[in-house]
Amino acid sequence: MARRPFVGGNWKMNLNLEGASALAGAVAQESRDRSLSQRIDVAIFPAFVHLGAARGAIDAAQSDLVLGAQDLSAEKNGAFTGEISAEQLIDAGARAVLVGHSERRHVIGETDELIARKLRAALDAGLTAVLCVGETLEERDAGRTDEVNLRQLRCALEGLDSHTLRSVVIAYEPVWAIGTGRTASPEDAQNAHAAIREEVRAIFDHDASIRIRIIYGGSMKPENAADLLAQPDIDGGLIGGASLSASSFIAICQAASA
Ligand code: PGA
Repeated sequence: MARRPFVGGNWKMNLNLEGASALAGAVAQESRDRSLSQRIDVAIFPAFVHLGAARGAIDAAQSDLVLGAQDLSAEKNGAFTGEISAEQLIDAGARAVLVGHSERRHVIGETDELIARKLRAALDAGLTAVLCVGETLEERDAGRTDEVNLRQLRCALEGLDSHTLRSVVIAYEPVWAIGTGRTASPEDAQNAHAAIREEVRAIFDHDASIRIRIIYGGSMKPENAADLLAQPDIDGGLIGGASLSASSFIAICQAASA
């Protein structure tokens, strides 16, 4: 079964309102002009406060570009000052959300258990969830890449039913490759993706493992995207730095749709 590629732009804590609206508009227009949605899913993940403006820009361009948020609360509503719920994201126009990005795991300190609860909150509300996993350099050097990825995966996915799993995209993002300009080699990335797919088979079944999209993140750019995307188990990308320019992000989308 051919999997439909998924390419997401993670804008992180960048841009002001004007810049975010302009970038959302440019990506929406370009992806529409190139009919990208006929072949791939393209998503952008602006900061919370820019979701409304990005929704407006996407709708004005009459584009299928998917709007996503970078995080959500594990709770439904209530006294959680500063948090944002899945329903509030949907209300603001989001249809997808990142869960467990490495900066949230390692900089903010989110645990596997919290990430599992956030994943459930996203899926219960009907959002597409991009679950991020990945090892640190120390863990890689100690030969623990698969062990760490598979632990993060199991903690998040165990207990889900395979129908709900269809709303999950897994992003493999080696922490040492994020924002560093160092990319995993296509072979190393492929090995990690294959191990993740095998673990999905072990937790669910063969069908689920063939169906699930596993995308790569960590210094993906137009120059290295084609080689990574040519690997059999790499189904797209989660792009940070290179997603802040419409032309480089669209170039990666085109590589994924080729
Ligand atoms: P990067 O970020 O492309 O800037 O390495 C990727 C990510 O953190 O999702």
